[in-house]
Amino acid sequence: MTTSIPQQRSVVLGVGAYLPAKTLTNEELAKLVDTSDEWIVQRTGIKERHIAADGETTSMLGEKAARAALANAGVSAGDIDLIVVGTSTPDWTFPSTATQIQAALGITHGVAFDLQAVCSGFVFALATAEKFLRSGSHKRALVIGAETFSRIIDWSDRTTCVLFGDGAGAMILEAQPSQGGREERGVLTTHLRSDGRHRAKLYVDGGPSATQTVGHLRMEGKEVFRFAVGQVTDVVKDAFAATGLTANDLDWFVPHQANRRIIDMSAQKLGIAPEKIIATVHLHGNTSAASVPLALAAAAADGRIKQGDLVMLEAVGGGFTWGSALIRW
Ligand code: ACO
Repeated sequence: MTTSIPQQRSVVLGVGAYLPAKTLTNEELAKLVDTSDEWIVQRTGIKERHIAADGETTSMLGEKAARAALANAGVSAGDIDLIVVGTSTPDWTFPSTATQIQAALGITHGVAFDLQAVCSGFVFALATAEKFLRSGSHKRALVIGAETFSRIIDWSDRTTCVLFGDGAGAMILEAQPSQGGREERGVLTTHLRSDGRHRAKLYVDGGPSATQTVGHLRMEGKEVFRFAVGQVTDVVKDAFAATGLTANDLDWFVPHQANRRIIDMSAQKLGIAPEKIIATVHLHGNTSAASVPLALAAAAADGRIKQGDLVMLEAVGGGFTWGSALIRW
């Protein structure tokens, strides 16, 4: 187990999400590239994605999701002393998107920083914030996954442009005293992994130091698919091993929303019943770091995820990076 008996545990106070107003359906995409609604739905489950308006940046999406999460949690921005933003599509090379959101929320105390783990960004940000809170250094964290992948997509490449969209999701965590029991609310355990040998399978072909450009996303889809289904389940098994809990104990499985087939095959491999899967990928496509909190916010808002439920988060992204977080909601 990654934790002994913690003095503090990170309890979820609320979640929120934001999707840009403009949608792009499969039918509309079929007018841009040689594809079809049938192909996209059959291979990915995606029906539509949201696209940020001109001038609408990642920090603007993140701020809206943050405000929704603050309202859901019933806390004010001034109560937050730690902001961690998972993003691979920052507004600027620097300063960080997190500091832009901090300023937009009117917060002038505490600390805000970005964390880059591509589609695993939210799970990595959550695991990081959880460790800060558990250490006692900070009291209330705002964890955000926010992306504008539409800005790094090659819109002439049908093998990638059909998959991604823009959005943001956020979570408020609070450090609360805990005896360390599995039935007590809060983040029970987190497990992060990375393996940089896989860069060529999923990368952006630009960057400030290498090319002085922003670049476009490139992907070997089949290889990513194989890795996502084949390898990533290890971090979920690590979470079960660390807590003595099993797939049967889970109420909800909230994986990265990249592709419905990956989600279903991962759940099947882990012995997680189909009715425990939270899937929103059909509504927004792959929003990278925003995908897990978008799914969480949807399931919390419609009453599926309730206080006391056992929720497993899982994500995989470029690098590769991958991780899990097991939460007593
Ligand atoms: N529309 C129609 N046909 C297409 C499209 C499209 N949009 N894209 C590819 N095709 C064609 C291919 O050219 C190929 O044609 P061919 O047989 O004549 O050569 C055929 O469809 C099959 O292509 P495959 O690549 O074999 O299709 P596959 O079944 O592997 O599905 C997909 C492709 C959906 C990309 C799948 O591999 C996948 O989901 N991979 C994982 C992607 C992913 O989740 N990435 C994000 C990871 S997270 C992150 O960090 C960003």
